[in-house]
Amino acid sequence: GSEAHVEDFDFSFEGPFGSYDTNQLQRGLQIYTDVCSSCHGLKFVAFRTLHDEGGPHLPEDQMRAYAEFYEVFDETLFDGEGDFRTATPADHFPESQLSTAPDLSLMAKARAGFHGPYGTGINQLTKGMGGPEYIASLLNGYHEAPSCAPEDFDGHYNTVFASGGYPDECKDEDGAHMYPGSWIAMAPPLFDDQLEFNDGHAADVEHMAQDVAAFLMWTAEPKMMARKQAGLTGVIFLTVLSVLLYLTNKRLWAPHK
Ligand code: HEM
Repeated sequence: GSEAHVEDFDFSFEGPFGSYDTNQLQRGLQIYTDVCSSCHGLKFVAFRTLHDEGGPHLPEDQMRAYAEFYEVFDETLFDGEGDFRTATPADHFPESQLSTAPDLSLMAKARAGFHGPYGTGINQLTKGMGGPEYIASLLNGYHEAPSCAPEDFDGHYNTVFASGGYPDECKDEDGAHMYPGSWIAMAPPLFDDQLEFNDGHAADVEHMAQDVAAFLMWTAEPKMMARKQAGLTGVIFLTVLSVLLYLTNKRLWAPHK
């Protein structure tokens, strides 16, 4: 069929009790830094948040040293003309270096991996929205182009990317796509054993794709752990309150029954 397939990866942060895996977020940060940042920005993410608990949780000195790798343009310098200076923890990651590459700060929330069936959204109730699954699947989604496509067709064939170019030669007589996905402008960014991780974790494309997708889930929802904690506290509170109100109600009405 021509439906793009997004794999339902098991991420540690799924479900009401799920939480980010600190090591995975640190590997994802490393992948973003060494690979993705040459094109994509993270303009909504402040360096200081890399130190936050519930996030990559870098030790403070490492977070500071990380920020100092970057140069930012500061409009207040040089008598208002602006100048570059070393970044501090209060600064944000730079914007995309390549104008056609979208900023990735919120990408894990901007895309859905799961839809349907038949527009009901039930798959999103059971599996989640699938933003990180979409990103991990996209990075794993590069395949040899089907033979109907002209050799010089612009882009890279990806079975998960839905909104790219698509050669007429690969459409049937009704104009329907005969193959899933489309042609994306991003060349496959990951390859096996491209990086080495301090925690010794596997560095094949499949695992790195999940690690960087988890990291991008954190950039899109940095307070997820606090949100789940508050939700759980709320549910426990309401449960206790319900029991107390039930008992109060019984006692108030007891003399009249
Ligand atoms: C698009 C992730 C590396 C260039 C995208 C999209 C994602 C993504 C999620 C959006 C797809 C969509 O719109 O649904 C990543 C990650 C990377 C990475 C996680 C590192 C592992 C790179 C690199 C380059 C690049 C190194 C440049 C050499 C682009 C471009 C697009 C894009 C040009 C737009 C594609 C299009 O609309 O056809 N990337 N990317 N990316 N990326 Fe990357």
